[in-house]
Amino acid sequence: MKFFIDSANVEAIRKAHERGMVDGVTTNPSLVAKEGRDFRTVVDEIASFVKGPISLEVVSEDAEGMLKEARELNSWIDNAAIKVPMTWEGLRAVKICADEGIQTNVTLVFSPNQALLAAKAGATFVSPFIGRLDDVGQVGMEVIEGTAQIYANYGFETEIIVASIRHPIHVYEAALIGADIATIPPNVLDKMVHHPLTDVGIKRFLDDWKKVPKK
Ligand code: G3P
Repeated sequence: MKFFIDSANVEAIRKAHERGMVDGVTTNPSLVAKEGRDFRTVVDEIASFVKGPISLEVVSEDAEGMLKEARELNSWIDNAAIKVPMTWEGLRAVKICADEGIQTNVTLVFSPNQALLAAKAGATFVSPFIGRLDDVGQVGMEVIEGTAQIYANYGFETEIIVASIRHPIHVYEAALIGADIATIPPNVLDKMVHHPLTDVGIKRFLDDWKKVPKK
């Protein structure tokens, strides 16, 4: 299972990278806005140490505008994956990007049928938003199950990125299903390492070690 970091915070991404947890990065306009920094500068900094795919999102709503942005963003770094929204215009842009060898990530996906369309258009990645579905009372992980089954049925090569992850159980469930990638916010990654029994166990071992006679 690959881990992407769902963040535009360079220091958080660097920390996760140093821990061997970064196979790629996903950004979106909200995450970039949160940092209050120039987008290009942030992207260059991330790309200086992350060699896996870095998702950069377009903001145009028509295919021509998306393509113009996609070509520009793709020229910035060697490992861009252009994030395109799940609309007919977006899918039209994805098809042309696929023909031009530009990696794409179809975002704002909320149903297996949308994921099927993304794969048909030739998307490199598809990003179903699990947490936002849970928020409205729909079981987000069912979209991952359905999409994974459909892709397996037909041998689609589009990789599933489980996105809008809110807590460690989302990562666990995604891993049980066998999703290709989880894009994990830094705070969720931090939570995954902790277990109270680990802390208690370390303390007990260290306390006992003090009792071992030393020459
Ligand atoms: O990268 C997009 C996605 O992960 C957004 O998550 O928490 O804004 O629903 P969230």
